[in-house]
Amino acid sequence: MADKEMIEEKIGEALGLEKAAQKGVEELESRGLLKPEHMKKLGKMKEEASKQEQQMEEWVQQLAESDGLDSEKIESTAEETAEKVSKIMETYLGEDPDTQEALEFLCLAEGGEVTHYEVLASIAKEVSNKKFGTTVRTILKEEQGHLQLCTKLAKTNAATE
Ligand SMILES: [Fe+2]
Repeated sequence: MADKEMIEEKIGEALGLEKAAQKGVEELESRGLLKPEHMKKLGKMKEEASKQEQQMEEWVQQLAESDGLDSEKIESTAEETAEKVSKIMETYLGEDPDTQEALEFLCLAEGGEVTHYEVLASIAKEVSNKKFGTTVRTILKEEQGHLQLCTKLAKTNAATE
């Protein structure tokens, strides 16, 4: 059974990944690695990520009250995770990054989000409010859509370069 500490950690990581995915899109765009045709679709993905982040933040407050979760611990895990992901991004992009690598990094980030929401879905039953699981499963579906979108963009870019 997942304990409180595990739930706090997993929510924090999911939140951190949300933050990092949005920041990643912003940064890759400002570095000229994403083309306008990519941004048309990724802009929508980023908006959705921002909504998901908001939803999760609301749950952190609710679960702090109902289940005694430590919201400060969750927030610090989120920050730590977001920092780790931005380091991973730099490592992945390397010295002379191109559009293909930028799109593939986004696949990596979205893949991480899918996995984390899968894990959260598997432990969501441990919290008292059952609606939390419903939110997590809804976000998981959206994340699967994000991963599919990024994969499609990466495949199309590779085929047309
Ligand atoms: Fe996402």
